[in-house]
This record gives sequence, C-alpha cells and structure tokens, in this order.
Amino acid sequence: MGSILKIEKVSKVYTSGESSLKVLDDVNFDIEAGDIISIVGPSGSGKTTLLGLCAGLDKFTEGEVVLCGKVLSAMSEDECASLRNEKVGFVFQNFQLIPTLTAIENVMIPLELQGKRAYDKAVELLDRVGLPDRMHHYPSQLSGGEQQRVSIARAFINEPEILFADEPTGNLDDNTGSRIEALLFELNKEKNTTLVLVTHDLELAGKTSRIIKLRGGKVISDSSQMQAV
Ligand SMILES: Nc1ncnc2c1ncn2[C@@H]1O[C@H](COP(=O)(O)OP(=O)(O)OP(=O)(O)O)[C@@H](O)[C@H]1O
Ligand SMILES: [Mg+2]
Repeated sequence: MGSILKIEKVSKVYTSGESSLKVLDDVNFDIEAGDIISIVGPSGSGKTTLLGLCAGLDKFTEGEVVLCGKVLSAMSEDECASLRNEKVGFVFQNFQLIPTLTAIENVMIPLELQGKRAYDKAVELLDRVGLPDRMHHYPSQLSGGEQQRVSIARAFINEPEILFADEPTGNLDDNTGSRIEALLFELNKEKNTTLVLVTHDLELAGKTSRIIKLRGGKVISDSSQMQAV
C-alpha cells in the first residue's frame, strides 16, 4: 500500500515579539496507509504541534507535508479544510467540543458539513464509545472521559482515511481506556483507517506497529528504521 502521510524536513518555529522557539526540528517520516503508529515523548517535546501540522490544522515553518496525496503547502485554507473534512479525523487533547451543542449534535457536525445524513451514524458511534444514554447532554454536563469519547465518535463519523488522536485514552480509567483502544483497532481493521496516536501510555504504544519517539522537537528513534538497520 502507498504512503498516506509523508513529512519531509519539517520544522516549526513559534515567534512572539523578539523571541522565537523551535519546537520541531527536521522531522522526517513516511506512513503507509492502514498502519497504526504511535508518537511518544516527554511533555513539551512537540507531539501535539506535530499532529496539528500533519493534519493541516497548523502551518509549518520549513519542509513539506504530503497528506492523502496532497501537498499541503500548495493548498489554500479552504482546500485544506475540505481535505480535512472528507478524509481526516482528529481527536484533540482538549476535545474541542462545541459547548452549545449536545453530544450527538457535536458528533454529527462533520457529516452535516458535507450535507449528508448523520443522525443514525452518530447514534451508532455514541453507542460504540459507550455513551448511548448521554447523547442529549451538553459537554458541560459530561465528565472529561465522556467528552473525550464524544470527540472520538465525532472523529470517526466521516469514515476518515487517517485518524489523528492526541492522547485518546489520556482521561479514561483502565476499563474505558481498553474499550476505546479496542474500538480504534477495530475501526482500523474494518475500514483500514490509518491511525496516528500520540500517547503517554507505553502499553498502548507497544501494541502499535511503529513507535516514533520525539524529544526536544527531534525524532530520536523510529522503530521502523531500527528494523531496517
Ligand atoms: N501557540 C504556541 N506558541 C508558542 N509556543 C507554543 C505554542 N504551542 C506550543 N508551544 C510550545 O511548543 C512546545 C511543544 O508543545 P506541544 O504542545 O507540541 O508539546 P506536547 O509534546 O504535545 O506536550 P504534552 O505531552 O504536554 O501534551 C512547548 O514548549 C510549548 O510550550
Ligand atoms: Mg500535547
């Protein structure tokens, strides 16, 4: 199978006033469609920043990202937004649910934006993440773990080719975490969804086919390259 995400010599510098901070430095990797990979590293090592760049949510300073065959630097904001809406799922570290919409309304958004029927699918996904009785609650009425599961359901509703998930099990107890982990792996099998997971959970990382370790914005190891040597 072909490459679904290629990151070439990517760096990211945040500047504010006089000071600038290089948070990603010459990052390179290539992910095959259908793969499950994890990105691990200490707090502040650049994991969330990297995920945002890969998904076209944020701009990189140098280098190139090719996502689902599209060269991101050559795309307009609108083209990038359509690509995300049609082919990409994203689970944010802080969920980013819309506070004025109920759980099910939040889950339906990506499909509704495409003018497609969303209700039945949203019900099914909320059931699969274990929230059949919380569908009509607002985010403020849900626990952190419940909000996280709503955001996972939302990320899957457009049947993305690639799903980026930032700490998808970070706020969950062991049981719920295992259930979500199982769901991610099931959806990978069922739909061949490529999964890119940021996690602090080394047990979860150990179950993925490839582990990329970041430190101080650099890739310090990539298990696929270790195998190749
Ligand atoms: N918008 C921003 N402006 C300036 N600096 C930022 C911005 N966003 C992130 N940073 C800095 O970039 C670095 C990497 O942050 P990032 O959120 O990518 O880390 P992380 O690996 O996801 O950490 P964590 O495990 O705590 O979630 C940090 O030093 C952070 O302070
Ligand atoms: Mg982070």
